[in-house]
Amino acid sequence: MDAKYGLPKNLMQWVDNHRDRLKPPVCNAAIFPDGNYIINMVGGGNQRTDFHDNPTEEIFYQLRGEAFLVVWDRGRFERIDLKEGDIFLQPPHLIHSPQRPDPNGLCLLIELPRPQGKQDSLQWHCAHCGAEVWKATQQLESLVDDLPKVYDRFYALKDEERVCPDCGTQHPGKDYRIWHEQLSRSSVRDF
Ligand SMILES: [Fe+2]
Repeated sequence: MDAKYGLPKNLMQWVDNHRDRLKPPVCNAAIFPDGNYIINMVGGGNQRTDFHDNPTEEIFYQLRGEAFLVVWDRGRFERIDLKEGDIFLQPPHLIHSPQRPDPNGLCLLIELPRPQGKQDSLQWHCAHCGAEVWKATQQLESLVDDLPKVYDRFYALKDEERVCPDCGTQHPGKDYRIWHEQLSRSSVRDF
């Protein structure tokens, strides 16, 4: 027998053994790092202001706690709740920002390897008017390794490099509280 990715394992025991990797800032660890499916466990409490444009589908299975996605679609911010026990198949290119305020939350996230030439984007939007403030597009090889490098590039920008090109609102960078406070007063928010 060549069960080359390992024998079945107890998922919650795996969680207990990888608790440290499910904490901020990454909150994300691969359960079967050698397989073709990307099967990750995602913890909480994240504090993200980025949006993700994935050229492939994503499956979210919210095992514990609650989370939500802020979605940027057709010029509006909308919200998709992930309640405990919910499963969601997200279509390609639905631009989303996963919000996981619960430090004990757990979500099983299943993604596909990206076909060559199909690129992911991480992008930051003006909370006030929705305009794109900054974006990085690349061929994604590893969720766990590639994404934090893009965050670091955005967070390193100067204040004047994070000004909305449309309305002039200052994007607060990684300041999640200010970004969400701006979002609560947004002119393009539907929740
Ligand atoms: Fe703006």
